[in-house]
Amino acid sequence: MSIVKGKHIILGVTGSIAAYKVAELARNLTLDGAIVDVIMTAAAQRFVGAATFQALTGRPVLDDMWALPEDGVVGHVSLGQHADLLVIAPATANTIARLAAGLCDDLLTTTALATSAPILIAPAMNPHMYEHPATQANIALLRQRGVTILEPAYGRMAEPVIGRGRLPEPAIIEAEIRALLGRTCGPLRGRRVVVTAGGTHEPIDPVRFIGNRASGRMGYAIAAAARDRGASVTLISGPATAQPPAAVTLIRVETALDMQREVVSAIASADLLIMNAAVADFRPATASEHKIKKGDDEELTIRLVRNPDILASIAHRRDLVKIGFAAETHDLLTYAHEKLERKGLDMIVANEAVASIGAEDIQMILIDAQGVERLPQLPKPVAAERLLDAIIERFAARLRAPEIGSMTTEE
Ligand code: CTP
Repeated sequence: MSIVKGKHIILGVTGSIAAYKVAELARNLTLDGAIVDVIMTAAAQRFVGAATFQALTGRPVLDDMWALPEDGVVGHVSLGQHADLLVIAPATANTIARLAAGLCDDLLTTTALATSAPILIAPAMNPHMYEHPATQANIALLRQRGVTILEPAYGRMAEPVIGRGRLPEPAIIEAEIRALLGRTCGPLRGRRVVVTAGGTHEPIDPVRFIGNRASGRMGYAIAAAARDRGASVTLISGPATAQPPAAVTLIRVETALDMQREVVSAIASADLLIMNAAVADFRPATASEHKIKKGDDEELTIRLVRNPDILASIAHRRDLVKIGFAAETHDLLTYAHEKLERKGLDMIVANEAVASIGAEDIQMILIDAQGVERLPQLPKPVAAERLLDAIIERFAARLRAPEIGSMTTEE
């Protein structure tokens, strides 16, 4: 189930030309089942009409601090009390300054003061205004108070200026929203998850390599699903064609040896490793320093040497929940069982290699000490959600965060 489903999200829209971009965000959150209340400042309404947000969220747009809601409590207090998250996007330099100063002279700033929900701010402004020491000091102060502030994107502004000040893409803001909601109430909150994805490139010479057809799609979907459940995710990705998820720590690697080094370092403090990468079993014994010329040769022999088995090399980490993948073209279950044993895994996800590598869908067979569960053919993002839920259920004692309310330590 989507982490945003049933959540009450207040979306504050302030006076920036980027205001039109968050219409898409309001729409996506609403379609995912969130209750989205949009607060617009007076300046925001000069850029986009309230009717746009009203139509997309199916709820009235709020802008009047003095309007009394049905429960009779003054609007700003009531709104903040019911919210799971306050998102301000785009946030102007002026709004950021007013929030930093603790002013409450309109519905948005008063709601921000009255709420105990997490706050996410996505600034958008002229690059000079963003870089100005006043704005930077205000941002630093808000961060210090626990507000999450996204870095604006670099690029062309509406006026002919290039710099850092563009509103991040709605997909990036949405990813941050999911991560924040997950960290507040997801079953993996407080947990560290390492996911590997993509393939590896084993260099032959400076321009050629041995690689495979992995797209990164499944591993990236797994990283996003773990993030949405509240985990801090380190995604170690080999070369891949898919778009990696936002709001995770992304480490890019090329070779199996690079991947092994990064995995060993990342799992030092992790609770769960999901090893989805298609790691090359062999690499050229030497990578030529210069581009190999064919000359008069009719044949070329490249000697390959064995790469380390990353999972097998960390089999001693019994405290870490370890999940592997087995993509096979034949004797799927036999090989998968053998890998589960040999690599000391808690679970292995068997799948048909030809059908799933590089594809949009995957049919997974989950194998662990308890038995075998076949899942239907699913789009990879859906399969990733199902996989994470199965992992959390099966290894609850080692992974699940304590029930909210029964926590004794601050997370
Ligand atoms: N794997 C690994 N290190 C390697 C190769 C694979 O950690 N050098 C991991 C993969 O990420 C996957 C699991 O081991 O989670 C199984 O990978 P697979 O390529 O199917 O198995 P291999 O061990 O390479 O076995 P075989 O070549 O016999 O299929």
